[in-house]
Order: sequence, then C-alpha cells, then structure tokens
Amino acid sequence: MSDKTEKNVQMENIVSLAKRRGFIYPGSDVYGGLSGTWDYGPLGVQLKRNIMQLWWKMFVDDRDDMHGVDAAILMNQNVWKASGHVDTFTDPLVEDLETKQRFRADHLVKDAGFAVDGLSNSELNELIIEKQIKSPNGNELSEVRTFNMMFTTTVGPVADEKSVSYLRPETAQGIFTNYKNVVDTLYPDLPFGLAQQGKAFRNEISPRDFIFRSREFEQMEIEYFVNPANWEESFSALLKDIHAYLEALGLPADKIHELEVPENDRAHYSKRTIDIEYDFPIGREELLGLAYRTDFDLKNIHENAGKSMEYTVKGTNERFIPHVIEPSFGVERAIMAVLSAAYREDEVNGEKRIYLAFPEHLAPVKYCVSPLLKNKPELVAKAREVYMILKKKHGNVMWDDNGNIGKRYRRQDEIGTPHCVVIDFESLEDNSVTVRDRDTTEQRRVSIESLNG
Ligand code: GAP
Repeated sequence: MSDKTEKNVQMENIVSLAKRRGFIYPGSDVYGGLSGTWDYGPLGVQLKRNIMQLWWKMFVDDRDDMHGVDAAILMNQNVWKASGHVDTFTDPLVEDLETKQRFRADHLVKDAGFAVDGLSNSELNELIIEKQIKSPNGNELSEVRTFNMMFTTTVGPVADEKSVSYLRPETAQGIFTNYKNVVDTLYPDLPFGLAQQGKAFRNEISPRDFIFRSREFEQMEIEYFVNPANWEESFSALLKDIHAYLEALGLPADKIHELEVPENDRAHYSKRTIDIEYDFPIGREELLGLAYRTDFDLKNIHENAGKSMEYTVKGTNERFIPHVIEPSFGVERAIMAVLSAAYREDEVNGEKRIYLAFPEHLAPVKYCVSPLLKNKPELVAKAREVYMILKKKHGNVMWDDNGNIGKRYRRQDEIGTPHCVVIDFESLEDNSVTVRDRDTTEQRRVSIESLNG
C-alpha cells in the first residue's frame, strides 16, 4: 500500500470508529446531512470536554496571570468592520462551469502540485489557466473571486442594513471587546491574558477531511496583553506553554512542527506567526496558531468606538495601548490529533484488535465494570457495589454485562477505556477483582478497597 493510501485508510478507520462507537456523527444525518457540520455523541462530548477542561486548567486555573470570559456569539456589526473581517475575511472561490459546484481555488492548485502560499487571486487565476487546472469533475473553471466566509444574519424583527450581524468567525473579538471591562473591574497587572472557549462559524467553501475543516467548530483562544517592549519574552513563554499542553494531550513530539509563517502569508493583523502543524493522517496540517497581533485590535476599538483602550501602569503615569500575543487553538483539530495519535491496531490471541490509547485523563470512560456472568444475581450485586464505588470516584464509569468477557474487552478497547474490572466468584469470597489494562491487556488481581484508595 502506498503511503498516501495507507494514510487515507487510517483516516477512514478513525471516521468509521468515531461514528460506530458514538464519538462523532455527521450533522443532521437523519435528514441527509448538512455539509461541514458534526454532532458529538456520548463519548465524543466527553472526550471534547476533557480536552477543553485540560486546556482551561493549564492555561487559566493553574495560573495567576489569566482570567476567563464568555462573550456573546452575536456581536455589533461594527466589531467585524473594525477588525477587518467584513472586508478581508475571504477565501478564493472558483466554480465548475458545468456543474456549478464551488471549490477553493488554492486547494485545487495545491492538489495539482503547485505551491500556493501567499498567492493573490489573480496569480491563482493565471496558474489555473497556464497549467490548465480543471475542477475535480474534469471541467473548466470560472475566474477566481473572493468569497467572504462569515455567516450573515439579522438581529430583531426588521431585516435591514442596521440589523445585520454575523455568527462570529473567531472568539478573539469577544475578548478584545471585553478588555476594558476586565481592566476596569479587576485591574490586573500587565502582562495578563483573557481566555475564552466557544463556538466559531466559517462558511468554508469546501469543508473537508472529517472535522478538520468544519463550518461550525470550537476555538480556545487567549489574548495575552503585554507591554510592547516585552512582547518577544511573552511570545516565547506562550510557545513553551503550548508545547506543554500538546504533550499533555498525548501527541508525540516528533509529529509536532513549528512553521514560521512568512510575512506575505500572515493574517493582516500579525507581525509574527508560528503555526503549530501536526502530522495528521491526512498529512501535515495546521493544528493551531500563535500570533503577535500588536495593538491592531485594541487600537481599532480605541479609534472606532471612541473609548480609550490605554492601560496605565500602576503607580506611574505611563500609559499605552497594550500589544497582544494570541495562542489560538481549534478544538476539532485537537480532537482529530488526539484520536489519530491514540488509534492503534495490534493482535491479541491471533485476533486483530483496534484500541484507542488515550492518556487516562482524556479517556471518555475511565473504568468499565462487569460481572463475570450476568445471570448470577450474587455476582451482579457485587459488581453493582464496585460500579457505584468507582462511579462516585471517577464519574465516567461504564457498566457492561453483554456477551462474553473477551467481547466486552474489545468494545472497551475500541473506545479507549484504560481499565476493565471483572467481578467473579473469587470476589465474593475475598473482595478482590481482576483489573485488565487496555494497552498491555495484562490482568491484575486487586482488592476492592484499593480501587477506592
Ligand atoms: N483568532 C485567530 C484565528 O481565528 P485562525 O488561524 O483563523 O486564527 C485558529 O484559526 C484555529 O482555529 C486554527 O489553527 C484551527 O485550529 C481552528 N480552525 C480554523 N478554521 C477552522 C475550521 N474551518 N474548522 C475547524 N477548525 C478551524
């Protein structure tokens, strides 16, 4: 199998496991779906929460220089005018002249084997003509035009220019618009960060690669406000913190890469950006970004909203608009990286086994508890006792008494449960149980008491 085919197969296996076992389903599936949307099932929502809570713990709870905010998704249209999104948050679009299907021009050019970084629309156009690049259906393409990715809506009963609003394409602006509120209420010392997790929406021209490029997704963003004289120090420190978080997600270091984004490829607001890329099964792609946004956003608010965004250094007359370092994480990409890093296939007793080797703190289910036989009331009663002890302690504990023990183990392996506890006749005599380890498949005999320790 070629490397590319093998990677596609791995991706397909992950997508199929995610659906089969209740992690992630295609959005609106019963009605034929809605492209670029995904729904999380019982295990997926737990995995997602674990990933998001770990981030909140490491970047907010464990630090004294970070505070949280949770802003509304719908914001005054002036936010998106001042931020540049109304004018420049666009992707290059081409149309298949026969089928009228729409595609991202840069994706088609890249898929045809040409570099696209930093190319303008007219340069993409020239390449498409010169290299005779066709649509995936083999048809001629239209000229490249810009397509704004924000979802537009209207707020209130009257739909006119003034009521136009957008589903936020990034959570960042909800932080900038609250910067002054937080300074006025907490007056934190510089440097300090404001963190937010929440939904973001982008009308992607061609959503693809499972949850990697979705139209509705979740971000975890920090705007870290600094004295401009010290931005480099904070940039390096945050880069280190990002790597610590990725390590805690269980992502192998050799699959994580830093890309120094060249000037002509950076967002309009950034003076320096490092993209953290990851070797996903679909190839090396952006996992998250770290950008030095200067005072671009606060200065825009300062000028457009007519409210001072200046910060006065405590006990001095020194005043300035802080500069900003922004680590911006996509939750779906983190989930996809965690799933692909955890996905394993091996052989146990001559049979193929699929398992997800999640780090224990991310596993959606921590323990599975089973009576050896489900038709023996005394075993079931003892197993319920153990189940309640573990549930009280860990919350995410599953009960499984279906099929034989081997099948139960396989089911739990597939969803990444680190420990399976079985209650047998010996348990009734000496209060001991077997605990089987997901990764090694080894079984240990331990006392019920020690599970509660
Ligand atoms: N506030 C800066 C910002 O939004 P971005 O590079 O456009 O920067 C940040 O997005 C992160 O959001 C990306 O690195 C990626 O993880 C995630 N992301 C962006 N678009 C996405 C999409 N369509 N689907 C899933 N995740 C996406």
